[in-house]
Amino acid sequence: MEPILELDGLSKVYSGGLKALDDVNLTIRKGEIFALLGPNGAGKTTLIGAVCGMVTPTSGTIRAFGHDMAKDWRKARARIGLVPQELSTDMFEPVMRAVSYSRGLFGLAPDKDRIEEVLRSLSLWDKRDERIMALSGGMKRRVLIAKALAHEPDLLFLDEPTAGVDVELRKGMWRIIDEMRSRGVTIILTTHYIEEAEEMADRVGIIRGGKIVMVDEKDAMMARLGRTEAHIALAAPLSQIPPSIARYPVELEQNGSSLCYRGGDGAGKGKQDVAALTKALLAEGIDYTGIDIRESSLEDIFVSLLGEEEAG
Ligand SMILES: Nc1ncnc2c1ncn2[C@@H]1O[C@H](COP(=O)(O)OP(=O)(O)OP(=O)(O)O)[C@@H](O)[C@H]1O
Ligand SMILES: [Mg+2]
Repeated sequence: MEPILELDGLSKVYSGGLKALDDVNLTIRKGEIFALLGPNGAGKTTLIGAVCGMVTPTSGTIRAFGHDMAKDWRKARARIGLVPQELSTDMFEPVMRAVSYSRGLFGLAPDKDRIEEVLRSLSLWDKRDERIMALSGGMKRRVLIAKALAHEPDLLFLDEPTAGVDVELRKGMWRIIDEMRSRGVTIILTTHYIEEAEEMADRVGIIRGGKIVMVDEKDAMMARLGRTEAHIALAAPLSQIPPSIARYPVELEQNGSSLCYRGGDGAGKGKQDVAALTKALLAEGIDYTGIDIRESSLEDIFVSLLGEEEAG
């Protein structure tokens, strides 16, 4: 797949000495949705700032659309859109003008139809003549998105696009992102809603302390690191695990009244194990009253990965 963005040995040390990016190597493919996940202060916004020209890298190179950003940023910058994390737009401007201006900023001819389409898709058409300062927080965020969309970028950064946005609007945003993907826009988003990455992303990168800890296809990551957890409520408590089921990754919990299975591979093995396990229990004459079974989510994976990092 054609790379659209290549980060090579990218580091950023802020003037106070803080290393916000530490030798980041990352290739983004044309047309993909890439979710960058990481705790507060991990370096997500710094990474985006480096690509979008707000942060000067301390070392390393950034190539976007084949251009070296240090030498040739103008050519690439016009094709990159950004929805920033911080609201920084001109509060006194009416919505329509701010969004139209943003298009002109990137050297595009005015296009009223395009602006109308963008504003309508974000439910901002009715607000087009309002000053941005008079809008609610969620609507202000939508204006930022409208501004980024107005110049029809090929590569779009969304830095926490749905922070502080209500559930309905968040779903609306997902639809817009999906629509952009179908038009061939490459999207890099950061989010604290892991559900969002799970829903949208093709690939996921996990960043912590300025280092990329892991990058993988979302499905592969979930299959490789996913686990099944099953709690089997026993009709009568057990004092020990019978030898016939001891080969499974099981433990007794709640004073022996619950048998817990934690294992599998995120690709069906866990369910098969639990089915076999319940048969083995019945063969032993051990009855149960219920089974609660769940597959781990990207969130569980994320939390356990960061936990390992902390421990290590
Ligand atoms: N302008 C700056 N000067 C000095 N340090 C900075 C500056 N901007 C960010 N940092 C520091 O760099 C680190 C990374 O910050 P960054 O904003 O990139 O994190 P983030 O992953 O986007 O976090 P969040 O999830 O909270 O948005 C943090 O420790 C932050 O305090
Ligand atoms: Mg940030």
